[in-house]
Amino acid sequence: MRVLVTGGAGFIGSHYVDVRLRRHPRDQVVVLDKLTYAGNPANLAEARKSPRFRFVKGDICDARLVDRIVRGHRIEAIVNFAAETHVDRSILTPEEFAKTDVLGTQTLLEAVRKFKVKRFLQISTDEVYGSIERGGFKETDPLKPSSPYSASKAGGDLQVLAYWHTYGLPVIITRSSNNYGPRQYPEKLIPLFVTNAIENQPLPLYGDGLNTRDWIYVEDNCLGVDHVLDHGRVGEIYNLGAGNTRTNREITFAILKLLGKPARLIQKVPDRWGHDRRYALNTRKMQALGWRTQWPFVRGLRATVQWYQDHPEWWRPLKSGDYLKYYKKQYAGRGRQQGK
Ligand code: NAD
Ligand code: TYD
Repeated sequence: MRVLVTGGAGFIGSHYVDVRLRRHPRDQVVVLDKLTYAGNPANLAEARKSPRFRFVKGDICDARLVDRIVRGHRIEAIVNFAAETHVDRSILTPEEFAKTDVLGTQTLLEAVRKFKVKRFLQISTDEVYGSIERGGFKETDPLKPSSPYSASKAGGDLQVLAYWHTYGLPVIITRSSNNYGPRQYPEKLIPLFVTNAIENQPLPLYGDGLNTRDWIYVEDNCLGVDHVLDHGRVGEIYNLGAGNTRTNREITFAILKLLGKPARLIQKVPDRWGHDRRYALNTRKMQALGWRTQWPFVRGLRATVQWYQDHPEWWRPLKSGDYLKYYKKQYAGRGRQQGK
């Protein structure tokens, strides 16, 4: 199959490219990526060794470029990982999120329509369901996103479903829980705390530290995505979670323990605005399709910490700008409006 992977130079997309090339020896994979701050050509070092791999730098919102790629490479399937992905950035600059995550998705759907692409797989997130106190969300639950990021992802999902209902396009959506693993940009909780702890820098734990996420190892998510691309039913949504809920405090202490660092590195900081309390998914539908996670959390976290210890050349240059540290201070200081 000839597959277009958008956002393939990012964290999960690049792992997915490796998985696809490895598991399907006859497939060709084209990556389209804008190389924003989160895209890194180094993430595709393994893929570049393959003659079945091509890279194009560009924006999924650029309809002419998307058309040229889909027509030129006779693309049969698109897997859309391209997105602005960090909640804190979405609080600071929501416009980029709406552009890429909603309009970008719609631009790709138009190309699917025009060139009769056989499959369109939208990579989405558990955050579109919002927060849940107990249990886990099912695929049929209503969407209740609360951040500009999750609202934009929900907007993308709704476009995908509208193109299924209206034009009968062969679309599928996967919604995964929080991924972790090698090559995740050091602005997200686990890589930020691991790299800060290595450098004996403070770990800024938001609020009471009791917000909870379900953590899935990136390889498990990518194997799930691949399984859905080949065996999922069009028009369907599939949750990909690990049943591995942990509070941020638990994650923080697990990281400190693995690195042999003291608890005094933990720094209490003001909470994120509109911070969702708990995310969790019901994954029975994926299990019925024959998918199981393979990475217990302890093994995955150990492998992740080890990777960051072994690859300072990958993450050190990304931390030097400290864009977020500066801007987060701004939003913490500015005060929310009193509507809520
Ligand atoms: P990431 O931020 O590491 O990578 C995103 C990639 O998309 C980057 O390579 C970036 O350059 C590219 N990109 C951004 N805007 C683009 C545009 N307009 N055109 C082309 N490329 C563009 O993100 P990630 O963590 O790998 O997430 C990938 C996907 O998985 C996203 O759709 C995200 O919403 C979803 N997801 C992520 C998680 C998680 O925990 N990281 C969980 C659930 C779902
Ligand atoms: P994050 O990795 O940004 O993922 P998401 O918000 O999409 O789930 O954050 C995971 C959790 O960690 C979330 O509850 C916010 C919290 N967090 C901190 O406490 N400190 C931090 O510096 C960051 C980035 C996140």
